[in-house]
Amino acid sequence: MPRKAPCLFRMFSLVLALCWVSALTWAQPSVDQENRDTAARAVNLLSFVAVDYAEAVDSGEIRDRSLYRAQQGNVQVATSLLEKLPDRPGRTQLQDNLRALAGAIDKRAPAAEVRQRANGAADRFAALYQLPRSPAEPLPPPCEARALYQDRCQHCHGEQGDAPQAERKLNDPARMANLSLYDFYNVLEPTRSDAHDNAVDGDLSSRERWALAVLVAGFAAPDIAPEQKRAQEFPALVGLPGAAILRPAELPPEARDALMWWRAHPQETAHLQHPLARAAGLLYLAQNAYRGGDTASAYHQLMLGLRDGYAMARPKLVERDPALTAQLDQQWQELRQSILDRAPSNEVIDKFQRLQANVVRAREQLQPSTGSAIYFLAVLLFFAAICVGALLWYGLRRPRKKPNS
Ligand code: HEC
Repeated sequence: MPRKAPCLFRMFSLVLALCWVSALTWAQPSVDQENRDTAARAVNLLSFVAVDYAEAVDSGEIRDRSLYRAQQGNVQVATSLLEKLPDRPGRTQLQDNLRALAGAIDKRAPAAEVRQRANGAADRFAALYQLPRSPAEPLPPPCEARALYQDRCQHCHGEQGDAPQAERKLNDPARMANLSLYDFYNVLEPTRSDAHDNAVDGDLSSRERWALAVLVAGFAAPDIAPEQKRAQEFPALVGLPGAAILRPAELPPEARDALMWWRAHPQETAHLQHPLARAAGLLYLAQNAYRGGDTASAYHQLMLGLRDGYAMARPKLVERDPALTAQLDQQWQELRQSILDRAPSNEVIDKFQRLQANVVRAREQLQPSTGSAIYFLAVLLFFAAICVGALLWYGLRRPRKKPNS
């Protein structure tokens, strides 16, 4: 008995300590989570300014006054959400961006300008408050959400996203190309969007929301073979953390169609999700951003490609091909430096292209592609055919010899 009391006491204090520690660890992420939700709400509002503005204003004339007001309201709300968020380096610049966006809408600026400003501000929000905008695991296939869609969404949006009401249509390629998978995901998060009431999507899991986002993306993605072939010409777009964040409309036309297809068929891309495919994809995006004059995101994507792509494949590569590895190390370093030094753009683009080519080479070294497997099989079949041919020839010749002899 005398030993039990201290033991109980010890257990009690242990439980207390555990509670305290877990309360601490809980409290921290929940503040972060709250900030992220606030930022995600702002991203959602801004993405819809980007996509809806063209319907509200055309050639400087207001076509839909209530939509126009709603957009001014969205920017105001995003601005006040930013005020609630903790200060970070770069917040003042984002405040300036939002002011410029509000000014552009007030002036009824062209749609392309407003879209670029709104999307730019949304991306900055996400970067500043470290929003995870891609699922932690690979994107789920659309079939996972089929029953859920039939159950919860179809009566409003139509079987194939083809609802008769314009605001419910989900199969308009031009509109859908201006939204990322992440935008679809956000629409289904009641803390971030009030497009639906809680009964529609309040209880969905994150995975269910991603699966629905992929399914919705499929309504505007042509499901025909030529598109698939075109998509395969852009393997660099696959395996990207960015596939969920990218708005296809921001890419050149061929790559845009490819992304429209890929993001609706993530299951088809599983075999391409090699770290070097990710590196190549991010390099592609970085180069695209650089060409568009956005050096900051170009640098960011480049570093992401280095860290989340190349660095992960490097240990294997150095065993297989040390010379190529050394060359690649140097190329990443030089490209990074030349962006920081603001080297002439033709030089930088040249470095991008040479690095890209070597990353593709490295990938071939590490992962014998299905192409070379097929080649190997073809050689094997060729030799098998020669052997069979020789045997046949020999077999056919022998009986002829008899009558001759
Ligand atoms: C009660 C009818 C209703 C149901 C049920 C419903 N939606 Fe919606 N949804 C709407 C309306 C209306 C809008 C437009 C809201 C707006 O413009 O603010 C919308 C907007 C959207 C959008 C944004 C589209 C765009 O172009 O702006 C997506 C994506 C979406 N819904 C997906 C879904 C999914 C997935 C489900 C099922 C979980 C679902 N919806 C269920 C009515 C509904």
